[in-house]
Amino acid sequence: MANSFTAQVHDLTPRLIPNLDPHMVLPLLEFLTHHNLYPEDQLLEAKYDLLQDTKMIDFANDVHKQLKHGEAMPGFESRRQNVLTDLEDLRDSTREVMEILSNPDVIREMKNDKLQNQRFLEERFGFRVSMLDRLYDYARFQYACGNYSGAAEMLYHFRILSTDYDQNLSALWGKLAAEILTQNWETALEDLVRLREMVDGRTSANHLHQLQQRTWLLHWSLFVFFNHPKGRDGIIDMFFLPQYINTIQTTSPHILRYLATAVVTNKKRRASLKDLVRVVKEEHAAGRYSDPVTEFVEALYVRYDFQAAQEKLKECEEVLFNDFFLVATRDDFVETARLFIFETYARIHGRIDLGKISLLLGLEKESGEKWMVNLIRNARLDGKVDAETNTVIMGAPQTSVYQQIIERTKALSFRSSVLLNALDKRVVERREEVEVEA
Ligand SMILES: *[C@@H]1O[C@H](CO)[C@@H](O)[C@H](O)[C@H]1NC(C)=O
Ligand SMILES: *[C@@H]1O[C@H](CO)[C@@H](O)[C@H](O)[C@H]1NC(C)=O
Repeated sequence: MANSFTAQVHDLTPRLIPNLDPHMVLPLLEFLTHHNLYPEDQLLEAKYDLLQDTKMIDFANDVHKQLKHGEAMPGFESRRQNVLTDLEDLRDSTREVMEILSNPDVIREMKNDKLQNQRFLEERFGFRVSMLDRLYDYARFQYACGNYSGAAEMLYHFRILSTDYDQNLSALWGKLAAEILTQNWETALEDLVRLREMVDGRTSANHLHQLQQRTWLLHWSLFVFFNHPKGRDGIIDMFFLPQYINTIQTTSPHILRYLATAVVTNKKRRASLKDLVRVVKEEHAAGRYSDPVTEFVEALYVRYDFQAAQEKLKECEEVLFNDFFLVATRDDFVETARLFIFETYARIHGRIDLGKISLLLGLEKESGEKWMVNLIRNARLDGKVDAETNTVIMGAPQTSVYQQIIERTKALSFRSSVLLNALDKRVVERREEVEVEA
């Protein structure tokens, strides 16, 4: 099935690639291949180029054959032989340290003090610090060959013993990548948190360098946050930190799509909506970034334009479906977005025509009514259906003052949503009082 123009225009892959490790880009290209956004040959060529930066020679050769009617990659045999020879050499030179590390006594007797550990290993097992460099090289090589689990394990041992800060940091980047590629989300999240602490903790760091590292971290973290069950809290916690919002707005405003999706689909974190609205407004105003997801947020929460919100929502469906990280959030997004549209609409109008709400939500009349009735039945909405007039009457008392303020706040954009929240609270409180009296 050919995909529409919208999906390709809004594909972020070209902006993500420069901030990811080549190994991490491969699954993205694989995903695109199944979504027909680009000609197949173009994707194969991109894949082939990426593989040139790895030691996955057989894989590269397969892709070359697909591209060139079965013709082997130039220099295939000799390149393959070189990799095998290097691998053999590295295996030999790390044999001793690998044996030491696989000894259960060693792990048991490890202490928190690295120097003490090194001394203990030197005295009891013939360990030498120079062995660590070899271990690091071997881990990198295994990673380059696509043996991510092997690399993660070696990097884990390396980090226990290494006393060099910079190498320790590089090893953690490598380990995070390896955990991501083995889809070890629990460990990946731990490594991500640890890495963030190391990157943020360097107050003396060169600012440009730190900005670059944070930019990478934002991109790499998407794998973790959109796969780990707690990811949609984690992304909100991390990305709204001043230093990360700053990085997003400075180097990678396209990350806003991921943050916006996480906020919209996270029903427990409604409070972050106002922070999101602020950033979306700034980016839109500066002309730095917009896409259907951020435009949906703006239409609904800044302009209260329900018609536009509904149109954007249709585009969002398509954009999310074609986004590697967000495809699994699509249904959730659409459902929550409808609820958002409805709630905002309901706040302004006390009585809602069922026919109209279906239109507003982009549903057939019948399924719109069903959606509405379910919402009320499941007590997610305080209202009742009046069958005679085919309307829903909202439970909250709608005072004229309330109406007036709503009308005025329409023009007030961002501040209005804060005000609305405050008002909303008051309305709820008042309603509770009424219930008590009754
Ligand atoms: C991957 O690395 C581990 C650890 O070095 C090693 O034991 C294993 O044999 C490697 N797997 C492959 C397929 O090379
Ligand atoms: C290296 O990483 C380990 C494991 O996370 C950590 O405990 C240690 O403090 C780090 N060492 C240095 C020198 O940064």
